Amino acid sequence: ENHFSEDLPLKGKKILITAGPTYEAIDPVRFIGNHSSGKMGYAIARTAAELGAEVILISGPTNLGLDHKSVELIRVTSTHEMFVAANSYFEDTDVFIGAAAVADYRPKFVADKKIKKSGDSLSLELTKTEDILASLGEMKRNQKLIGFALETNNEEENARKKLKRKNLDFIVLNSLQDKGAGFKSETNKISIIYPDKKKDFDLKPKKEVALDILNEIIELLNA
Ligand code: CTP
Ligand code: CA
Repeated sequence: ENHFSEDLPLKGKKILITAGPTYEAIDPVRFIGNHSSGKMGYAIARTAAELGAEVILISGPTNLGLDHKSVELIRVTSTHEMFVAANSYFEDTDVFIGAAAVADYRPKFVADKKIKKSGDSLSLELTKTEDILASLGEMKRNQKLIGFALETNNEEENARKKLKRKNLDFIVLNSLQDKGAGFKSETNKISIIYPDKKKDFDLKPKKEVALDILNEIIELLNA
């Protein structure tokens, strides 16, 4: 807290962020998940709070915590829980940032007892999860909506399709090309893609990447 707080660029803004992976239960002791650490989403949440925003961080299972008076941390496990939480806060928010690595499919049936080993193979039937960002894209009024994409091929084209399909204001494309970028690392290399332009950023610590992303959001809010 300092005496410049009145001048903080996100003062009075409400920012809703999803972070981390989601886990989809198979039985009482097993799940389908992914390697997302949550670091990028948590870095954005902390930095947004430091810039004066009121932040609600909806987090899937991670080892991280975030202790800041302007951050409310809501922990969820499954995509459905994340979807319900995101929907319940969306109307009252200025900016939504979907930084979570959301599962695309979940087991169609969750066994109520631990599945016993039997036979040489096992098939799991999967069914699609809710697309949180796409559904908020359909509901959005004045909110700014930001997504992430990690692509291994046709990066820009695929990211642009998501930008359009999910009705986003911009999408952050994570580059896999560079060593040190991505899921578990402390650094990230991004491009920010708008409907009509693209900005490329250098490989840098996630804290600084978070600031780059929030600076774009501040520009959008002031436009
Ligand atoms: N996302 C979401 N809900 C989902 C899947 C994705 O909110 N069920 C969000 C992510 O948080 C991310 C963006 O959508 O901000 C793009 O996620 P990504 O996995 O790249 O896109 P998908 O639409 O799932 O397409 P695909 O995995 O086939 O590339
Ligand atoms: Ca996906």
